[in-house]
Amino acid sequence: MQSSIQYTTDVLIIGSGASGLSLALRLGKIYNVIILTKDLVHESSTTYAQGGVAAVFDVTDSVDSHISDTLIAGAGICDFKSVEFIISNARHCLEWLINQGVVFDSKKLMNGGFCYKLAQEGGHSCRRILHSSDATGDTIERALVVRVKAHSRIRVIECCRAVEIITSFHLGLSGVRRVVGVYFWNLEKKEVELCRAKVVVLATGGASRVYQYSTNPAIASGDGIAMAWRAGCRVANLEFNQFHPTCLFHPKARNFLLTEALRGEGAYLCRQDGSRFMEDFDMRADLAPRDIVSRAINHEMKRLNVDCMYLNISHRSETFIRQNFPTIYDYLIKLDIDLTKQPIPIVPAAHYTCGGVVVDQKGRTDLEGLYAVGEVSYTGLHGANRLASNSLLECVVCAWSAAQDIQYRLPDIIHVSKLPSWNKNNSLTTYDVMQLQYKLHNLRVLMWENVGIIRSSKQLKFALNYINLIKTEINEYYSNYSISNDFLEVRNLVQVAELVVKSALRRKESRGLHFIVDYPEKQLEPHATILCP
Ligand code: FUM
Repeated sequence: MQSSIQYTTDVLIIGSGASGLSLALRLGKIYNVIILTKDLVHESSTTYAQGGVAAVFDVTDSVDSHISDTLIAGAGICDFKSVEFIISNARHCLEWLINQGVVFDSKKLMNGGFCYKLAQEGGHSCRRILHSSDATGDTIERALVVRVKAHSRIRVIECCRAVEIITSFHLGLSGVRRVVGVYFWNLEKKEVELCRAKVVVLATGGASRVYQYSTNPAIASGDGIAMAWRAGCRVANLEFNQFHPTCLFHPKARNFLLTEALRGEGAYLCRQDGSRFMEDFDMRADLAPRDIVSRAINHEMKRLNVDCMYLNISHRSETFIRQNFPTIYDYLIKLDIDLTKQPIPIVPAAHYTCGGVVVDQKGRTDLEGLYAVGEVSYTGLHGANRLASNSLLECVVCAWSAAQDIQYRLPDIIHVSKLPSWNKNNSLTTYDVMQLQYKLHNLRVLMWENVGIIRSSKQLKFALNYINLIKTEINEYYSNYSISNDFLEVRNLVQVAELVVKSALRRKESRGLHFIVDYPEKQLEPHATILCP
């Protein structure tokens, strides 16, 4: 399977969510940029984000208060410098987003001016969430895509999936190991192509689809984390996968998120008999941070041996609900659920990867020329549990910061002369799709059942043994068979699953999103879990 096409660009960005698009727009003024995306350009986790972006826009709010809420949600292991840096730079990055055409909900003031309508979400000590109805991510994505498509120096290559990062080491070059390009799989042509780049940016999102139930779209398969690891980069805190408390529980729709902003507007969690339970678990009740709420739901489901809990907002007026949550209303009504009249069945589901590829404040990974921005990265902002609506914030601030560094460094970087073609011309035809789907299903169930909201060392070891078996098989097939999209998906998810479980086994304490029954207490000296390849 030879590579037929070789592209060349200054900057190759892999991923087309808020991080990738905003970075492209910042760099496209002076440099040639290619955005590689494995589906259509709109298909990213950003598109499905409902809640909004946290930032200080209210005169009664303060950066210190936002920092404090982030640190509390992060359960003692946020990187303070990173938190301070990202939150202090929130406002101008949000203003940049608004200048790109993103419209957040606002209201007119008596004096003729306007102010943003700020929403409330769990863990925030005040209303702080800029939003666009209940479809904020979609609004951001659409505005940025319009800009990107109109840009003469930004090219978007859709339906192409990165396979491997190519480094100077692969070319046998001496000196500092640096990125020189990427091999990618063209889904339509079914062949490997390659792109030579001075700088490569991973903006590939998280890995929540390693779990059986997730609020994420199918693309969230940890590709960036797996590729960076294989290229020699460290990863951190992968044991902290955030389970969003309120994912719809319905046989025909297992991925639909019910935004935390519902609870910010008075929705409450209850049992089937209508009784509330969050007060029994935390003083902040329904607006406690997500780790606490998800554990409480999980506890009640296990205690009562039931499949779901409920979210009730039917005490608010129909007009209010339909005005503020039109996307959710329309979606649920098609499933015969009227949230203005009845509680909604919910379960927690994998939502966000708080750890990722280790980066500094400029988005630089351990590999020269390779950057990571957004959910794929570990900046230290989220600690052991991400504060609601800090994720899109991290995307836009870190894209700004990485863009500055890339602009500064690019003039000194020269392209390597030519990249070698993909040399894996394996003769055996592709691995059977059904078998791959079966393996993927088993892996996701394994992760859900053994590496979920509550885990034990025994479960983690069991999971690791199984993962090792699949990994051996996958590696063997990688050497002998021609590749396919499904194969690449399984390969990356298995890699990420291994890293998640190894990280979880390293942490001998319970903290934030990692609750392990063998070590129910926090250790006195908090630390990040860093894995080195
Ligand atoms: O509940 C939500 O709307 C999700 C927000 C987030 O993940 O930050």
